[in-house]
Amino acid sequence: MVDMSTALSTLELPNPVLTASGCAAAGEELNQFFDVSEIGAVVTKSIMTRARSGRPTPRMAETPSGMLNSIGLQGPGIDSFLANELPWLKAHGARAVVSIAGSHTDEYVTLAKRLYHHPVAMLEVNISCPNVENRGQVFACDPLAAARVISAVRRAANPNVPIFAKLSPDVTDIAQVARAVIEAGADGISLINTLLGLVIDLDTLRPALGGVTGGLSGPAIRPVAVRCVWQVHQALPSVPLLGMGGIKTGRDALEFILAGASAVSVGTVIFHDPSAPMRIARELEAELAARGFQSVREAIGFAHRTSSEQAEFFAARIATTQPDVDMEATV
Ligand code: SIN
Repeated sequence: MVDMSTALSTLELPNPVLTASGCAAAGEELNQFFDVSEIGAVVTKSIMTRARSGRPTPRMAETPSGMLNSIGLQGPGIDSFLANELPWLKAHGARAVVSIAGSHTDEYVTLAKRLYHHPVAMLEVNISCPNVENRGQVFACDPLAAARVISAVRRAANPNVPIFAKLSPDVTDIAQVARAVIEAGADGISLINTLLGLVIDLDTLRPALGGVTGGLSGPAIRPVAVRCVWQVHQALPSVPLLGMGGIKTGRDALEFILAGASAVSVGTVIFHDPSAPMRIARELEAELAARGFQSVREAIGFAHRTSSEQAEFFAARIATTQPDVDMEATV
């Protein structure tokens, strides 16, 4: 038996597997496949102040070991979200991590205020959507812009609700952006959003996506995501991290935990295996047990320990769990 509980700042979770924003709407469809209250939390599709139709079609293109999306933050807007999706999550006992997105700082502030009195387990502040016309709106590509949004959200949001900043891997120094958002008041960091990519359709001889560029997700980006988690954990070891990017199995999830994530979000895999969050949680438990871990928490960041520190950890474990043996009696 492995203790699968974990925490993201003050948010306690029964297990460390969450959905990734944008890949499971607000959980209602997934509830046909498993009880959404049993996963760590449902992370909703990023919500904006107004209903939004998103970018022109086509919006998805297949890539080797992944996919490119160019959705453009399509969504119902905050009024409809508060009237429908959020009450549904509460009624079904799910922990709701609400992802918010904005075109400017004031929009994030409006969203944080609108959500203030609602049952929100955590806010994930999406400052890294690559599918915006103006690259200047990818706030996470600039530490100052990222910090400005986060500090405004922190001031506006319910102080009891932890705030995680979702960062982009499309930067030179991810740890620098991470430090900026933590100093601005984020309680933790979600790593990573998709990478900016482009596919050319060889029949039309034009970009395959209506929006031209899109965000790359799926197993192809997993080593990039694990690298980002590793670098941010190394720079800010006490900051809770929610890791994501191409997780398909419990083994993949374990890589993120060992690199420093306290929990993981699974996304692209849900499109072909809607039950994946539950399966991955079960597989992760087995992977932890097979390596001698008794809890998720003791595996967080474990890959940062030297081999001898790791050996000492397991030796101490054996010393405390083995019953005393009377050597003479056994001879
Ligand atoms: C989108 O709606 O375009 C994707 C959102 C994101 O990647 O943040």
